[in-house]
Amino acid sequence: MSIVVAPFDTADPAAVDEAHRIATAVTVADLPDFPVEDREEFGATLAHPMPGNVIVHALARIDGVAVGRVQVRLSQLDNTDLASVTIEVDPEHRRRGAGRALFAYARRVAVDDRRKRLFWNAVTTLPGGAVRPEAGAGFSAAMGAEPALAEVRRRLEIARLDDAALDELLAGARSHAAGYRVVGWHGRTPDEYVADVARLESRIITDAPMGDLEMEPEKIDSERIRGIEAALTARGRRVYHQGAVDPTTGRLVAWTMLDVGASAPWHAWQATTIVDPDHRGHRLGLLVKIENLRYALAREPQLTAIDTWNAAVNDYMISINERMGFRAVDGWTDWQLAL
Ligand SMILES: CC(C)(COP(=O)(O)OP(=O)(O)OC[C@H]1O[C@@H](n2cnc3c(N)ncnc32)[C@H](O)[C@@H]1OP(=O)(O)O)[C@@H](O)C(=O)NCCC(=O)NCCS
Repeated sequence: MSIVVAPFDTADPAAVDEAHRIATAVTVADLPDFPVEDREEFGATLAHPMPGNVIVHALARIDGVAVGRVQVRLSQLDNTDLASVTIEVDPEHRRRGAGRALFAYARRVAVDDRRKRLFWNAVTTLPGGAVRPEAGAGFSAAMGAEPALAEVRRRLEIARLDDAALDELLAGARSHAAGYRVVGWHGRTPDEYVADVARLESRIITDAPMGDLEMEPEKIDSERIRGIEAALTARGRRVYHQGAVDPTTGRLVAWTMLDVGASAPWHAWQATTIVDPDHRGHRLGLLVKIENLRYALAREPQLTAIDTWNAAVNDYMISINERMGFRAVDGWTDWQLAL
């Protein structure tokens, strides 16, 4: 048996076909409630990386058959001593050494680029939650990594949304947030808010609990936000934003975003939600999230599920999510390995 790992170019359609087949098989087997990207969306995602990242892609072949894939993300503008890794092996071909070979490849790419740490995440089963394979955790420990942060994915099932309870929550939030103005938009962020979105997005690593993960705040400016928007558009994603504006300065001080993909209009990822530290305690987080949910539902009639991740210790955000009806599905461990 021979295992060969070789890089591929995202402009090579045959290699992207193989990577897509593997990614789809892994999602269907391991995370059956996840949306599956069709070939077009998968190809567009690979072809349009987020600005400020170099991504190396490779396939593992056992006796010539593609069985696994890896992507190594090398951020260029911040966190330049870190490489983030995604390894997926076709469930039909596990425990044959492909994961180990892909890991060795990723490690070499990272070391050659003078990175000091590898980082990735893997799913686990929560007590009473959906049953998930323990392969990711077993593999991560076998590679010598340490668990650095425990996260929980929660899902909001739109069919189970309690509109009356949401109305009540929204009314409470509005009264605590009296004076703030709510603004919503989809697609391109209005010029007047783009610098504020960049400032808020840059804060995430400072403000959200990060456990033992060694990461520095991302350096995000207006230009990078425009680059992110361009990548999302090129990938065919539809993005819904809601923010709260401080009436005295006219600045956006709270912001949240939902992200719907072209292949699965039934599903949205909850992206960043953040409130400027100077404006906390006014229920702005709850306010913008409920407003954005309704804003997105009005424009995405097929939407049935929204997924969000929080650090297991992020009590404030979790309590907002639970009040809105999000329920825990599975656990996610962020693993870290010093090189
Ligand atoms: C994790 C994953 C990549 C492993 O791929 P693989 O080809 O089966 O891995 P290998 O055969 O090279 O296994 C290497 C070692 O990892 C450990 N390991 C792998 N799967 C395991 C499992 N189910 N339970 C416990 N340990 C496991 C073992 O120590 C194994 O060595 P061994 O077979 O000699 O005992 C694969 O299960 C997968 O794609 N999972 C979903 C995605 C994921 O979690 N990726 C990891 C984070 S990026």
